[in-house]
Amino acid sequence: MARRNLFDSLSLDIGIDLGTCNTLIYVRGKGIVINEPSVVAVERGTKRVVAVGSEAKRMLWKTPGDIIAIRPLRDGVIADPDTTEKMIKYFIQKVIPRRWFVKPRMVIGVPSCITEVERRAVEDAAYKAGAREVKVIHESLAAAIGADIPIHEPAGHMICDIGGGTSEISVISLKGMVVTSAIRVGGDEFDAAIIKHIRNAHNLIIGEQTAERLKIDIGNASPDKIIEKVEIKGTDAITGLPRRLEIDSVEVREALQEPINQIVEEIKRTLGQTPPELAADIVERGIVMAGGGSLLKGLPKLIAKETGVPVILAERPLECVAIGAGKFFETMNSQDGSLYGSLNI
Ligand SMILES: Nc1ncnc2c1ncn2[C@@H]1O[C@H](COP(=O)(O)OP(=O)(O)OP(=O)(O)O)[C@@H](O)[C@H]1O
Ligand SMILES: [Mg+2]
Repeated sequence: MARRNLFDSLSLDIGIDLGTCNTLIYVRGKGIVINEPSVVAVERGTKRVVAVGSEAKRMLWKTPGDIIAIRPLRDGVIADPDTTEKMIKYFIQKVIPRRWFVKPRMVIGVPSCITEVERRAVEDAAYKAGAREVKVIHESLAAAIGADIPIHEPAGHMICDIGGGTSEISVISLKGMVVTSAIRVGGDEFDAAIIKHIRNAHNLIIGEQTAERLKIDIGNASPDKIIEKVEIKGTDAITGLPRRLEIDSVEVREALQEPINQIVEEIKRTLGQTPPELAADIVERGIVMAGGGSLLKGLPKLIAKETGVPVILAERPLECVAIGAGKFFETMNSQDGSLYGSLNI
């Protein structure tokens, strides 16, 4: 046991948030060392990797015919397992020192809706990249640890992680997931709703990046006294010519209503499934929100209003899954070995 503890303290612990939009890597003692879009550019045909991360994202939708930029984890599922594996290996190898004598332990946070086959593909990729031990865990458990929620307490805590492809809502008590639910609605769906609205209302076709900018700059979930306006550019759906359009925050809010309602309803449903004693704890402690989607203006306020439960935004909403994954082993100390099975997905 003593030898194992010494070995563990020397060990390099790596936490990975394998997100549908962004991949983050946290190394114990160093902090976040990788924070890049989950995008890979490959050569068409040979599938040879040309670029990964930020460099590949710049190529998205703008690539010449022989190179394609892929988001291998679109919509909360591993749409392209081979490319996902290449991406994981690329990022991990970037952070592992070449001649490190102790192989790292890796904890990877993934959306709970991935299948067993996909989970194994992620695990395999981590072993191939040089891990000594790999754990694949629900991203909301990792988010809870990273948000400093005291998950070891015999009390109910709710974490709501709104990512790019999925929104995950979990109730955690005594280091275990009591209730968990995930829907494939997140920031990407917000962008898609904006694209659809602008096409229907203004006959203008805009790209995903324009929609995302619009959402981040003037998007909101609750009515605001200040009405903001921005100019966007796109292609006229009838003439096929480029055109400008001024759009305001009220219109963007209306466009976002449907996906936002789906998330709010899922949170209410999860609260309804929570055992009463734990629900009472949540009313007292509040719902903790994480993930990039939680940064949408007015969303925490709307959720608090709709559920009647206070809402707290995690301190580092975009980073807490990676931080929590990196701290997983120290949080679940060795006596909790039996818990691993139930936490594994
Ligand atoms: N300030 C902001 N306002 C609104 N949305 C934002 C903001 N910042 C980031 N986002 C959105 O957050 C999403 C990415 O969040 P995050 O990095 O948590 O996702 P992910 O972990 O990659 O996805 P998932 O958890 O679904 O696998 C994107 O849709 C992005 O547009
Ligand atoms: Mg995420």
